[in-house]
Amino acid sequence: MIRLTSLFGFFGILIGLVSCQSEEEIKRQRYITEGILVYKNNCANCHQSKGEGLASLYPPIAKSDFLGDKNKVICLMRYGQQGPIVVNGKPYNRPMPPQPQLSDLEIAELATYIYNEWGNETKLTDVKSIKPILEACK
Ligand code: HEC
Repeated sequence: MIRLTSLFGFFGILIGLVSCQSEEEIKRQRYITEGILVYKNNCANCHQSKGEGLASLYPPIAKSDFLGDKNKVICLMRYGQQGPIVVNGKPYNRPMPPQPQLSDLEIAELATYIYNEWGNETKLTDVKSIKPILEACK
């Protein structure tokens, strides 16, 4: 009898885990869908719709090695970026204006979109994980 209940308990946890994971997946898809829109409205002007950048003016985001420093990328989305930088071996030096209109959620959606589309991630960047990073880069 004890064994039977622990067996049910085991399957209960298993089912819980599986449904929890798909909720996470639904959220990831939602972030990506929203992220595409936020990107089109706030970033594509300069970085172009496929993230390919524009000549020596605007660096590419697609496959950019700069994506390696995710905290820095999260900070620059809100606070901008200036001074010389090197992206995939090419130098850039033109100020990126701050985007104070972006909410924490929009930045999380952008990060999820960018890193799933052009980085090597297949996970969600939750708004909860974004908040302390944004606090730290003020
Ligand atoms: C007015 C043009 C402009 C807009 C709008 C803009 N950027 Fe930038 N972005 C730049 C420039 C210029 C740089 C290079 C800054 C430097 O030289 O220091 C840059 C750098 C970057 C970088 C780091 C280098 C790289 O390409 O990996 C990322 C990531 C980035 N921008 C993402 C974004 C995102 C996301 C948005 C939308 C929220 C955005 N940018 C909006 C012009 C822009």
